[in-house]
Amino acid sequence: MSTTQKLLLLPGDGIGVEAMVQVERVLAFFNEKSNNVTFETDSDLVGGCAIDKYGVPLTNEALDKAQAADAVMFGSVGGPKWADVPFDIRPEAGLLRLRKEMDLFANLRPAICYPALAEASSLRREVVEGLDILILRELTGGTYFGEPKEVVTLENGDRRAVDTTSYTSPEIERIVKVGFDLARARSNKLHSAEKHNVMMNGVLWKEVAERLSKDYGKGVEFEHILADNCAMQLVRNPKQFDVVVTDNLFGDILSDAAAMLTGSLGMLPSASLGEPDGKNGTRKALYEPVHGSAPDISGQNKANPIATIASFGMALRYSFGLIEEANVLDKAISNVLAQGFRTGDIMQPNMHQVGTIEMGDAILKELGAVTA
Ligand code: IPM
Ligand code: MG
Repeated sequence: MSTTQKLLLLPGDGIGVEAMVQVERVLAFFNEKSNNVTFETDSDLVGGCAIDKYGVPLTNEALDKAQAADAVMFGSVGGPKWADVPFDIRPEAGLLRLRKEMDLFANLRPAICYPALAEASSLRREVVEGLDILILRELTGGTYFGEPKEVVTLENGDRRAVDTTSYTSPEIERIVKVGFDLARARSNKLHSAEKHNVMMNGVLWKEVAERLSKDYGKGVEFEHILADNCAMQLVRNPKQFDVVVTDNLFGDILSDAAAMLTGSLGMLPSASLGEPDGKNGTRKALYEPVHGSAPDISGQNKANPIATIASFGMALRYSFGLIEEANVLDKAISNVLAQGFRTGDIMQPNMHQVGTIEMGDAILKELGAVTA
């Protein structure tokens, strides 16, 4: 039976725009070829382009559309043009509002080193070859959203900045549970990263995770790790990890480090998921590349569209249960890399350097070949 899935496309600014064009081509491919699904798309503005048009980085109307969609595809936001807009309405605030209002608390950032890219990493081949780990980042709490968040002027005229890090036990519990679920479906190993040696948030995080490991996570190999040590271990011996669950701020940092193990930030997709709906098991979801808007190369047909295309692959897997289609797309990407196609960020000697559009062409061609 064929289902219809509604996707909202939010390309945003910079290279998000050109990468999303390639996703639209992939969507059109599945609309034509798949008997299982029809995708309907709508699009809207987010980030700097929304500020230019509406004075805010995300309109209520765009948020309503996102809430109503079966999944949201997000590109990237920001750029030097909006460097001086007030903090509250900076481009990034649009993304943060989407995450918060859609309650997308679970951010899955898989770092997979494609065999063809083992040499593109800044680490030695044997350290990264075959790497398949997942950073699970809490996305709606912690330092990003805690109040107060302000700069105040003291009596003596000095200024003081305050960011508040706060987590409740249910917030920790729900993300750590997702960690155990994911570990079970993978290699059955979960690390929980915090700073219990310095932060009260770490103390509570560790306590909740420890308790869960004894009931909910029973049977999953479980370890606590200090977040700084985790950063070090990620570059020393990343294959020791399977799933790493951590808070919003540590997750931001650790996932950038993990991304680079795969050769380039241009390769890393992510999924941000809400709580499953009690009635039909569906969940709110937003899919986005981990990389940013890269204003220095935007509009020049240089960006690597793979992270955004692979983010659509995650939508196929996690929102639509289209495992066969997701596998086909992953295979097409892997084949294209094996054939030597490279955007500038992953260029290696004797490979074939292409632009964003040509990388899209190659993936589309391979999709046709894989499904023939
Ligand atoms: C990310 C990005 C965002 C974040 C920015 C764009 C607000 O770095 O998704 O990792 O810090 O979460
Ligand atoms: Mg980041």
